[in-house]
Amino acid sequence: MNVRYLFGPNLGALGRRDPEVYGSATLPEIMDEVRARGDALGHVVSWMQSDHEGALIEALLTARDDAIDAVILNAGALTHSSYALRDAIEACGLPVLEVHMSNVAARERFRRNSVISDVCVGSIVGLGAGGYHLALEAMPWIMR
Ligand code: DQA
Repeated sequence: MNVRYLFGPNLGALGRRDPEVYGSATLPEIMDEVRARGDALGHVVSWMQSDHEGALIEALLTARDDAIDAVILNAGALTHSSYALRDAIEACGLPVLEVHMSNVAARERFRRNSVISDVCVGSIVGLGAGGYHLALEAMPWIMR
């Protein structure tokens, strides 16, 4: 499967951003390991990170043209506010799996609400970078 990971605002700062919450690995370090697991499982992994809502929307809407089969999305704080991103998830025509590294249910109140969860095929929450690995293992169950 061709699996594309999309990362939203501030996730490019992993490694130096709140390491007690998100760990000390950088996003390229995390994704090198995820890509290696993808190789082992027979998946082709690609990824992009943007701090810009519009860039993420474009990435969702063009994913099918790039022959992507599924999207793994950590939308960062846009999760809690972006109806535009939500619309793009619905419009992209691909299964989108939501991932959060922290346990958003156990943090500030505003993080408890996701405006995208119900248009995603499922969510992996609170397992740190492990969530990105588990997402690959979940592929056979989310393909449709
Ligand atoms: C996050 C949780 C969000 O609330 C936050 O804004 C992030 C990261 C997570 O991975 O736990 O940027 O999506």
